[in-house]
Amino acid sequence: MDTPGHPVIVLDFGAQYSKLIARRVREAKVFSLIEPYSIPAARLKALQPAGIIFSGGPASVHAPGSPLPDPAIFEIGVPILGICYGVQLMAQMLGGKVERAAEREYGVAWLEHDDDDGLLDGVDARTQVWMSHGDRVTALPPGFEVIGRTANSPYAAVADSARRLYGVQFHPEVVHTPQGKRILSNFVHAICGCPADWDMGSFVDRAVTDIRDHVGAKRVLCALSGGVDSSVTAMLIHRAVGAQLNCVFVNNGLLRKGEAELVQRVFRDHFHVNLDYVDAEDRFLARLSGVTDPEQKRKIIGKEFIKVFEEEARRLGHMDILAQGTLYPDVIESVSATGGPSATIKSHHNVGGLPEKMRLELLEPLRELFKDEVRALGCELGLPEEIVGRHPFPGPGLGVRCVGAITRERLETLREADAIFIDEIKKSGLYGDIWQALVCLLPVRSVGVQGDERTYEEVCSLRAVTSEDAMTADWFRFPPEVLQRVANRICNEVKHINRVLYDISSKPPSTIEWE
Ligand code: XMP
Repeated sequence: MDTPGHPVIVLDFGAQYSKLIARRVREAKVFSLIEPYSIPAARLKALQPAGIIFSGGPASVHAPGSPLPDPAIFEIGVPILGICYGVQLMAQMLGGKVERAAEREYGVAWLEHDDDDGLLDGVDARTQVWMSHGDRVTALPPGFEVIGRTANSPYAAVADSARRLYGVQFHPEVVHTPQGKRILSNFVHAICGCPADWDMGSFVDRAVTDIRDHVGAKRVLCALSGGVDSSVTAMLIHRAVGAQLNCVFVNNGLLRKGEAELVQRVFRDHFHVNLDYVDAEDRFLARLSGVTDPEQKRKIIGKEFIKVFEEEARRLGHMDILAQGTLYPDVIESVSATGGPSATIKSHHNVGGLPEKMRLELLEPLRELFKDEVRALGCELGLPEEIVGRHPFPGPGLGVRCVGAITRERLETLREADAIFIDEIKKSGLYGDIWQALVCLLPVRSVGVQGDERTYEEVCSLRAVTSEDAMTADWFRFPPEVLQRVANRICNEVKHINRVLYDISSKPPSTIEWE
């Protein structure tokens, strides 16, 4: 897909903040991309950047093998902003000096400056900034001058305005630098000359044109799960090529209450998308019968999904293209300087592997977007809040929340309890504050009393977490009365549950899902 206008490119030197820098640039309505630090200057130039930002990174410029960009990048002739490690690199490569500081500087500092027509234009003369560095610049390269200093960093902000090279020792992209947005905005708008014209409306227009060019007269197949990413992918492609898109929605019997109905109502009835609804509940439950091992469950569900999907695709006739809701973080994970292979904690079930197996061309119209941008795009395309605002729901669905044996009856119990939990969260106005909320049915029974009767029934555990990206998570602090209402309703309304627990483990060491 073509990129709009001229992007500002963030070179990733292994900083946890690279994605945040790209987001901040997009928030300033300028399109931005992240590229690995090792990209050759010629390739970078071919992307026609309006400007370049060197991210921070954990390395020291003095360490052997520290990540260095192609020196020819300085000859491309567009403005460059170096952040933290990025400014140290610039100093080192352009003839200045970088030394190890006696002590690592970490935390809040106060920047003082009198730069009123450059990078710091409009920023308070004394403003809070966030520092996190070990090395520091001790001599500037020729052509550079100091434009801002802190008590510990005499070269906290530097510039060579003739060559349009800038550097800051602090992190303008984090919230602890309250005027950081202004600094990044000065860089992309005033210095790089980018107009503030990147928004979802312009994204849709361009994406629709690109998809039409790409698809031509071909047929597109899309696995629609009802989750945000596949829903937005489907809507965008539908907007572009209408009836050439065929969506397949597989009911694996592990869905939440009302899920299959919602997807059909929205996509088929409201938007008139070609939707193929496959009721495969019996097949999945037969395969899962007697299986209690989490990994085995995931593998069975994943394999069966691919089988069902392939059968449906064959039934629908010849398809040329498979659409997938791959997002930008997945794309950069595989190219970033730090994105090495990490241990597999759980085998994720997605449609990965399908395109090679089915020999279909891939179409990934969201591959340049972050999750919150995908939600904004969904709204722009008219999808209801029920879909764009929803929590993630894993591919193996209730299968990995029905801990222990999966039976139709236990799934029904879990589905009812889950619906009550989500309903009460929505009623209390907390749904949007929570990353993900779920109920697990445990393989344990406990004694209770209902009326005058002794009961011996199932136990469920509620889980609600806050998170930025699902890599780490913390348990959500509910007002006790919400938990009380949920527990009362579940015990009263769900036939086979007589005990409700609240899970207060964080990730790590626990994961979000139980299995
Ligand atoms: P864990 O349980 O590993 O989950 O902390 C992190 C996030 O990933 C979701 N998840 C999945 N998503 N297919 C998916 O598409 C899967 O197999 C899968 N397993 C876990 C989980 O719900 C959470 O948001």
